[in-house]
Order: sequence, then C-alpha cells, then structure tokens
Amino acid sequence: MAPSNGAYTMRLADLRDAQAIARIHNEGIRDRTATFETVPRTADQVETELIKRGDRHPTVVVERNGLVVAWASVGAYRSRACYDGIGEFSVYVARDTRGFGVGTMALHGLIGAGETRGFWKLVSRLFPENIASRALCRSLGFREVGIFRQHARLDGQWRDCVVVEVLIGEAALPG
Ligand SMILES: CC(C)(COP(=O)(O)OP(=O)(O)OC[C@H]1O[C@@H](n2cnc3c(N)ncnc32)[C@H](O)[C@@H]1OP(=O)(O)O)[C@@H](O)C(=O)NCCC(=O)NCCS
Repeated sequence: MAPSNGAYTMRLADLRDAQAIARIHNEGIRDRTATFETVPRTADQVETELIKRGDRHPTVVVERNGLVVAWASVGAYRSRACYDGIGEFSVYVARDTRGFGVGTMALHGLIGAGETRGFWKLVSRLFPENIASRALCRSLGFREVGIFRQHARLDGQWRDCVVVEVLIGEAALPG
C-alpha cells in the first residue's frame, strides 16, 4: 500500500506524470532558489528522461485528490561502475503546497525506493540560501559535507553549493 500522510499519497511515477513533473519543476526553475537551470522543462523532455532512467533510477510523486503536487527523483551520480550505488537526487514541491510535509514525504519515499534498489548513498548540491531544502535534508538525516565555492553561475552570478549526503540501506546500519 502507498504510504500516506493525511490526504497525500506517494507512489512511483509513470509517464502520465510527465506534464505535472515539468510544471512543478518549472516553478522551481522560475524561483531561482533550487537549480542552475533557467530554461523551462517540457513534458516531452521529462518523459524521455523517465524512459531513460527506467526502474534503476526511480522518480516518486506525491499526489492529493489525483493531482501530483511533488516529485523526487534519483539520477546516476557518475558513470563509473564503482559508484553505481550512489544516486544524485532532486526534490520539488508545487509552490502552493510547500511547508506541509510533502517534500519530506517525497524524499522519504525516494530513499525507500533507493534502498529497495540497492543504493547505499544519496547526494545532492543545494544553494546555501535554500533554507527549506537544507532543513528538509537535515530532518531526514543528511549530512552537510562541505561547500563548493563558485560552483557555477546563475543569471551571471557565481553561486556556492552545499554538498549533502545520506547513507541508506545496508550502508546506514551500525558497525
Ligand atoms: C525544498 C522543498 C522540497 C521542501 O519541501 P516542503 O514540502 O516545503 O518541506 P516540508 O514541509 O516537508 O519541511 C521539511 C523540513 O523543512 C522545514 N522547512 C520547510 N520550509 C521551510 C522554510 N521555508 N524555512 C525553514 N524551514 C523550512 C520544515 O520545518 C521541516 O523541518 P522539520 O522536519 O525539522 O520540521 C520545497 O520547499 C521546494 O520544492 N522548493 C523548491 C525546489 C527546491 O528548492 N528543491 C530542493 C533542491 S533539489
């Protein structure tokens, strides 16, 4: 049964979610708080990406009353085989649904999906000013590894990134 939080439910994404995933991603792109990307995503691009990633690199969605309000996805960290169990994640919540635990639900669900597939670590890069994403990661056990200085430019301005990681699955077991 899908985990639920009140009216919200979480499940693996499928191709029919591409439009909603693109819509939510584009809100985050417009906010300029989450990503270096500035060009809006199309549903076709999302669909292609979902197909390319397949079941190995899952995307989960949270929905309410049949409407997708958040997604989280894990992509490959590096192409080298030794890093196969490390995933790089993203999580985006629709603007009007932020701050209600939905991001937590999505990322928690993604961690579970990663564990099922044998991943041992999730990593990401966050803008230091993105207090909500740092709080979300902290609350789910992520560690802030350090800061990449002037990692890339957003709208012409150099931006730092906080690197976060969490050990999951067997890697998270004591000893
Ligand atoms: C970052 C984001 C995913 C968080 O999702 P959310 O549903 O708003 O967060 P939640 O309600 O689950 O809250 C998670 C934690 O962050 C805290 N938090 C949420 N919004 C916050 C804010 N604006 N300021 C401070 N803390 C905040 C919550 O108190 C909670 O902490 P707790 O568990 O210790 O109480 C969401 O704000 C978002 O989609 N932002 C735009 C995209 C983005 O920045 N993605 C992250 C980079 S990939």
